[in-house]
Amino acid sequence: MLKGKHIILGITGGIAAYKSASLLRLFIKAGAEVQVVMTPAAKEFITPVTLSALSGKPVVSEFFTANTGEWHSHVDLGLWADAMVIAPATASTIAKMAHGVADNMLVTTYLSAKAPVFVAPAMDLDMFAHPTTSRNLELLRSYGNRIIEPAAGELASHLIGKGRMEEPENIFKVLEAFFAGRDDLKGKKMLVTAGPTYEKIDPVRFIGNYSTGKMGYAIAEEAASRGAEVVLVSGPVDITPVNKSIRLVKVESAREMLAACEAEFPTCDYGVMCAAVADYAPAEYAESKIKRAGNEPPMIHLVKNPDIARTLGMKKRDGQKLAGFALETDHELDNAMAKLRSKNLDMIVLNSLRDKGAGFGTDTNKITIFTADGRETAFALKSKREVAADIIDTIITL
Ligand code: C5P
Repeated sequence: MLKGKHIILGITGGIAAYKSASLLRLFIKAGAEVQVVMTPAAKEFITPVTLSALSGKPVVSEFFTANTGEWHSHVDLGLWADAMVIAPATASTIAKMAHGVADNMLVTTYLSAKAPVFVAPAMDLDMFAHPTTSRNLELLRSYGNRIIEPAAGELASHLIGKGRMEEPENIFKVLEAFFAGRDDLKGKKMLVTAGPTYEKIDPVRFIGNYSTGKMGYAIAEEAASRGAEVVLVSGPVDITPVNKSIRLVKVESAREMLAACEAEFPTCDYGVMCAAVADYAPAEYAESKIKRAGNEPPMIHLVKNPDIARTLGMKKRDGQKLAGFALETDHELDNAMAKLRSKNLDMIVLNSLRDKGAGFGTDTNKITIFTADGRETAFALKSKREVAADIIDTIITL
């Protein structure tokens, strides 16, 4: 799977840096081309000579070669890579990556990388458990990076806890799995809806909801990274797609979202309806701002919005697969199954708001997937990107 792949191996200054040599060997033995990029501190833990001998390429660490003044282009490196793996990633490098502190070659390369980035943290248990580290890792996740969780065990400090870099064999397996599945949506087109809809009341007011679009965007990113042509129809959100191949269609209201979806779905293989579409919209739009007048509050009459998932579900042709979401607070299973049937979906992803870390605004989600052919799979609490991978892994089995 790794044969001919271009991998940037980023190494930072932690005790676990000695294990990077084993990881590098695994990549090389599998036929990958590896460019090592080290932080200056990493050289205190492992010599560049070992790494350049194993990779067959000079190690890059500085912006310039001291004696010749030759500039090392992080931009070229970022474009060259099929994947970037930072192992070990210290708390300091994680913080720099999260906040764009580009004061070394590794972080500048990370910021220029177009390929997926894998981060294998390694640090003492207290540093790993500190809210600063958790927050920074959460930020990295929200940017679409994949965190290879550290294992629990004895640490360099002889303390026992979580913070040990995952073993090189396991990091290698993550990359192998990544490249194995990488092209499984090649030649397929996917429509994803995401975010809230805004239903205008007057020029300054609307009816909306708290959806941030994170789950839908994660699905779009995951599908695009697996080779799909992705059209992302999104309500107003604060995020933008990272993968340049994603075609973003911005809409505001449910009616606009429906129009965009009806235009795109006929040529799609898959539809994933992730948007939190407002159920109702004001019957009339007031051309000028509604004024406060008299004692009686104004009445806003509502009309039903179109059900986008149902509209597409009814028009679906053979071979097209449609997935929807059910965000429930109670009677979760019954409600999800009723939606699956009434909207003519092929699968439904259930989020329960009773689960901590699931639903709107979080970077994590906990889902259960029900398929129309009767399968039910409950997944653990994971990052939204990992949840996106589970959803896509299921959709392609339909
Ligand atoms: O009926 P409910 O809103 O709970 O259904 C949720 C599912 O239906 C989600 O997949 C959502 O994106 C989709 N939906 C839609 N258009 C609507 C309402 C919901 O596409 N008007």
